[in-house]
Amino acid sequence: MDSFVINGPSKLKGSVDISGSKNAALPIMVSCIACPGKYTLKNVPNLRDTRTIIKLLEIIGATIIKNNNCIIIDSTKCDNPVAPYSLVKTMRASFYVLGPLLSRFQTAKVSLPGGCAWGPRPVDFHIKAFRKMGASISLNKGYVIARGVLKGTTINFKIPSVGATGNVLMGCINLNEKVVIKNAAMEPEIQDLCNFLIKMGVKIKGIGTSQLIIQGKSSNKEKEHKIIHSIIPDRIEVGTFILASLMTKSKIKINKIYPEHIKSIISELSKIGVSIKVDSKNSITIIPNKKIKKTNVTTGVYPGFPTDMQSQWTSLMTISDGISTIQDTIYYDRFSHIPELNRLGANIILKDNIATINGVKKLVGTSVMCTDLRAGAALVLAALTAEGITKISRIYHIDRGYEDFEIKLEKINVDIKRFNEKDA
Ligand code: UD1
Repeated sequence: MDSFVINGPSKLKGSVDISGSKNAALPIMVSCIACPGKYTLKNVPNLRDTRTIIKLLEIIGATIIKNNNCIIIDSTKCDNPVAPYSLVKTMRASFYVLGPLLSRFQTAKVSLPGGCAWGPRPVDFHIKAFRKMGASISLNKGYVIARGVLKGTTINFKIPSVGATGNVLMGCINLNEKVVIKNAAMEPEIQDLCNFLIKMGVKIKGIGTSQLIIQGKSSNKEKEHKIIHSIIPDRIEVGTFILASLMTKSKIKINKIYPEHIKSIISELSKIGVSIKVDSKNSITIIPNKKIKKTNVTTGVYPGFPTDMQSQWTSLMTISDGISTIQDTIYYDRFSHIPELNRLGANIILKDNIATINGVKKLVGTSVMCTDLRAGAALVLAALTAEGITKISRIYHIDRGYEDFEIKLEKINVDIKRFNEKDA
């Protein structure tokens, strides 16, 4: 198992290029199995999660050629509508194959994802929606067995779900009837998926709003598609590097981004007096303050403050000038970073889904452990400002979602090394 060793405090300089979005790439890669074709996807981040999806698509029968961040998925010969537990258990997003498999084969056997580091994370919305679309679904030995020709209907989600919205969208690809999704997720990653599905021949109205009207075509799966698509930049990676700049009080430039996707983060930053200079359409410069002001933040569905930035924001507030709070309304239990941040000298108390952070003057390096992807990112941020050596173990969590993290950090002047236990 690999670890990071960071020698802080760091002073950052230079610029960083943002990779493609993990959460956009995963469903788009998966949707390629719904219809035979050759799909060229550009700006796909090379991550543990995208490599897991590649393995899964290969099991289903796709052939994949990888050339740096460009992958070509040939789904012409897909013939095995099964997603085994061995892969789904490592990454919940594998459950996304249910929609495209049902759409193409009218049958699918997909392992239930099980729990995750921050709670049960059910898939009941996905199952209910496909039942409403006419699929017969049974559960057998940990697998969802789905069968049937899908039909048009209206689905009204109790709360907006990124995964369930994406799954239903992909279930509609070869469906001649209209499906309406009410209370749909509006995240940029869902918008990117919609734009990709449009290239596949699906008509979608309401992209970026809470109501999607989707009209696929059964002839979509009769033809061989040839589609080229470039994945949007990863807004969570952008947010993470913005906070790296603030925590180290260093000015850096962040390139290859879509500023409109990080409005909620910019809005929270403006409340603490941070100014962000938009240099061009795809590039910003962060000008940090001498002091980090205390603030209270609540996560919400897009365009609200992302839960995927909650851990990193908690890390920022550890060195603020007072008492801050952060409340997670999406995932109530997503706080495993707190004891680890406290090991670095932070003063955080958790009650229910609200963390109260008493800002301290400085953090001090020690050994800590990643418990999930964003918790890992929060620890790296803390290590940038902590005095001395911080050893972060179990960074395979970070490798799930940050492409070349240590290479990018090293380029902006961080003293960071990756170690394998074998090297020690
Ligand atoms: C996606 C993101 C994840 C992000 C999350 C919220 C991917 C691959 N992952 O996860 O990084 O943190 O959105 O922005 O894109 N829910 C149910 N039943 C369901 C589905 C969801 O109760 O069947 C609940 C969840 O427990 C949660 C809320 O709905 O409280 C939102 O979850 P959802 O948007 O579905 O998250 P994911 O798609 O799993």
